[in-house]
Amino acid sequence: MGVLEGKVAAVTGAGRGIGREIAIMFAQEGAKVVVNDLGGETDGSGRGGIAEEVAQEIIAHRGEAVPHGDDIATVAGGQSLLDTAIDSFGGLDILVNNAGILRDRTLFNMEEEDWDEVIRVHMKGHYCCSRPFARYVRESGRHHCRIINFSSVSGLFGNFGQSNYGAAKAGIAGFSRVLALELAKYGCTVNTISPAALTRMTIPLRERRGETVSDQDLIDNGPQHIAPVATWLASEAASHVTSQIIHVAHGLVGIMQQPAIVKSFQHERAWTLDELDEYMPKLLQAKKRHDAQVADAGKPEMIKEGWSSEN
Ligand SMILES: NC(=O)c1ccc[n+]([C@@H]2O[C@H](COP(=O)([O-])OP(=O)(O)OC[C@H]3O[C@@H](n4cnc5c(N)ncnc54)[C@H](O)[C@@H]3O)[C@@H](O)[C@H]2O)c1
Repeated sequence: MGVLEGKVAAVTGAGRGIGREIAIMFAQEGAKVVVNDLGGETDGSGRGGIAEEVAQEIIAHRGEAVPHGDDIATVAGGQSLLDTAIDSFGGLDILVNNAGILRDRTLFNMEEEDWDEVIRVHMKGHYCCSRPFARYVRESGRHHCRIINFSSVSGLFGNFGQSNYGAAKAGIAGFSRVLALELAKYGCTVNTISPAALTRMTIPLRERRGETVSDQDLIDNGPQHIAPVATWLASEAASHVTSQIIHVAHGLVGIMQQPAIVKSFQHERAWTLDELDEYMPKLLQAKKRHDAQVADAGKPEMIKEGWSSEN
């Protein structure tokens, strides 16, 4: 029996890339899946019927799926995603907010439309799909649901030329932390994945650096590496895991640090500028030490085949 047997999932942007792999693995693990995708270009322009192809592929492998081709960054699209799950499969347990686009430019050249469209698809898209689902969870008594959101190192660390995308992806991490608090009493978890995988979104970035992407690279670094972590977060095994950011990339799985005060000083009045001259360097020093410790602790530990922590 699969770990998602009896569950209903909706995966946005599941026509290709990371979303497609998640939809397929969810179905293999027994979930009934609403496969959403608008089928546009990487920059969000155009449309195509790719959600149908993935749904057909799942059905051909004896899974259960239904396509959904609406824009998830509209209120109507988010509502119809939920309605499709309820009409086709009788409810919804798992929402994966994965759909995304890119319009990379430095801020000097970023037009209003590039800013608005990236913020709309990522941030408003998370709102448009999560809100009807959250209300449904509260009102239907279908508790113990899962929301899995997609952030990026672009927003969590920062990446040149992606102020629109970085702002949206950092916003999604903040959105997830708040939603985790708001849905906790319904037993619903909200976690965030920070993925790295070779997809049509990232292959051009490599090629622009003069690197070629081989078939072996796609096996080693493809979007199929992200699906098991999303599946685990959606499963019963992760019922106690919420408000976390999990970084996943070609065989690597890590947990991200969340914003926290690293060092502080207090007295009972406002700080003077002279005092700040003295104490700010102490704070910056403490932060530097902390960053070095976290960077060291975060280095991947190699796991040998057949090795488990029980050994
Ligand atoms: N690939 C990576 O290394 C990487 C790194 C960090 C974050 N991410 C994030 O992971 C997610 C998946 O990325 P991917 O690499 O698989 O990209 P992708 O371009 O292969 O897939 C994204 C899918 O989303 C769909 N989509 C876009 N706008 C939509 C909308 N409004 N409504 C419905 N569908 C829409 C697209 O048609 C596309 O099929 C994105 O949120 C992306 O920002 C990816």
